[in-house]
Amino acid sequence: MSKLITHPSWLDAALEFCVGKTRQNLSTLSSFPERTESGRWLQTAPDQHGWWVGGHWVGLLWLAYAASGDPTLAAAARDWASRLLPQLSDKADHDLGFLFELGYILGHRLSGDAGLKPPALQAAGILSRRFNARGKYIQAWGALDASPDLRGRTIMDTMMNLDLLFWASQETGDQRYAGIAAAHARTTLAHHIRPDGSTSHVCDFDPETGAFIKQDTHQGLSATSCWSRGQAWGVYGFADCYRATGDHVFLNASRRLMVYLWPRLPGDLIPFWDYDSPLIPNDVRDSSAASILASGLLSLAAIENDPNLASIWQNRAISILESLWKNYTSRDTHEASLLLHGTRSKPHNLMDHGLIYGDYYFVEALMRLSNPSLCL
Ligand code: GLY
Repeated sequence: MSKLITHPSWLDAALEFCVGKTRQNLSTLSSFPERTESGRWLQTAPDQHGWWVGGHWVGLLWLAYAASGDPTLAAAARDWASRLLPQLSDKADHDLGFLFELGYILGHRLSGDAGLKPPALQAAGILSRRFNARGKYIQAWGALDASPDLRGRTIMDTMMNLDLLFWASQETGDQRYAGIAAAHARTTLAHHIRPDGSTSHVCDFDPETGAFIKQDTHQGLSATSCWSRGQAWGVYGFADCYRATGDHVFLNASRRLMVYLWPRLPGDLIPFWDYDSPLIPNDVRDSSAASILASGLLSLAAIENDPNLASIWQNRAISILESLWKNYTSRDTHEASLLLHGTRSKPHNLMDHGLIYGDYYFVEALMRLSNPSLCL
């Protein structure tokens, strides 16, 4: 039986560092941070209203509030959350979960403010309209009348947006949202996951008939490779689906993705950007894939029905977090992000920088360890 670690010795120092740097960033940012260049945040254009990453910054502020108890951080989170609202009228992709689960539902859970719920319900309604009933999937990108290639596209990342729909069903009693989320997850399971437990970033379908066409990629190395952030989205997202539905196929999916990736991690447990890169070990890492994976593993550990596996998931999460804290944080530097060495997209030549979502999931994971009663 694996021995369970709960509160590693470095946890409080790591959280103190994260809250301190978040306060510093709050005092300098005028728009939403996305990635760093030369150690400084590049901010999204004001008319993007946070693009797909705005929820991560708001969520970080909510977590900093929960970690510190400082009401000025809750006020800042509320203020920044309001800047996401225009996305309820012009959003043309699936990222509403990232935006409104972290910006609003998390805020409601941590502050008790019920006024944060209606925008999240509205976001769930918009997301549910992206469901293609023939293919049983949620369209990832583009407007609902976009070209067939966009209307037929699914991505691993959408697994992270399903919890918004499960939450909406709980709130309203309308099971349609949860039905869409579970159907999309089953489609992802059937077509993105390969027999060896690896995943493709993208799948293409015929949007008229719903027929599966092929696996594909956008940010990974190739259609047949395994993009490390997509694999981490999957571990986390399938665990969410199991928590919401109790359906063991989702628990097994999350476990299978872990079984694939664990032996492929380097010694320090921080994934290279794609598990199939031929340049490994001389290639860039993606620290965001590591922090997403660590937080997803803590979530998986909390719902795992095999106690031995639960300890294994939790201990692995802690080992990843310790490696991030000791070797990938910006402590002792002037870099603005919490984590260094993320990779937004190597095929687009965007690598080795800080990423706001890497930072968010790092702090989420630390908070899951520090205060499990928050039920993040
Ligand atoms: N959702 C986009 C990404 O993971 O880069």
